[in-house]
Amino acid sequence: MQNLPTHIAFIMDGNRRWAKRRGLPRDYGHKKGAEVLADTIKNLANIKEIKFASFFAFSTENWKRDESEISAIFSLVDEVFSKFEKQNLNIRFKMVGDLSKFSPELQQKLIKIEENSKNNDGLTVLVALSYGGREDVVFAVNKLMKAKKSAVTSEDIAKNLQTACAPDIDFLIRTSGEMRLSNFMLYKLAYSELYFPKYAWPSFNKKRLLKALKIYKKRNRRFGGN
Ligand code: FPP
Repeated sequence: MQNLPTHIAFIMDGNRRWAKRRGLPRDYGHKKGAEVLADTIKNLANIKEIKFASFFAFSTENWKRDESEISAIFSLVDEVFSKFEKQNLNIRFKMVGDLSKFSPELQQKLIKIEENSKNNDGLTVLVALSYGGREDVVFAVNKLMKAKKSAVTSEDIAKNLQTACAPDIDFLIRTSGEMRLSNFMLYKLAYSELYFPKYAWPSFNKKRLLKALKIYKKRNRRFGGN
């Protein structure tokens, strides 16, 4: 396939509504969502043109949820990565966000996954955990304030984001029909193509991924030019 995005991103929305519609417990929606996330990463890793994939797993605003839901999501993060650790796929994982808020055990695990996968040269997966797009820009500005005496350029900011290891996002998919960015990777989304399918994240699958990529290929990207 040609003209595919180099960097694809996902706002995995609708887990709870998916469960509710089926009369299932809320956390079952997240469980299914985590399985779909793992499958999607593997599917993307088989598409050579796609080099980067970003997933919004937990936002800075998600801390407002019930403690029991938060802990269910973190158990799933732990579970999914334990499986990836054993599979030895050629994927480079990068955690972005404020990991300091997680338990020391989970922090260590996430750092270890990053460390152990850093020399892999297949797909790079950015996992946004306790992440906010504005906070990412603030992070870059504070870094630059310490380092720079002259005027800051937009390139300087891009190079100092928590997400600096990946280029701009070409294609963003947000499931469940909500049409907003919810403080995701704002700086990287400046010229992204956006796609808002109605189905919830647990209903995402390979067929829907391929359909989304087909839609992306038809978009006429002009970046403000002709
Ligand atoms: C959005 O649906 C989903 C989340 C806030 C959590 C997503 C987390 C996972 C899929 C598990 C993460 C796992 C790893 C390995 C990173 P929602 O809860 O907002 O659902 P709603 O829109 O129907 O209320």
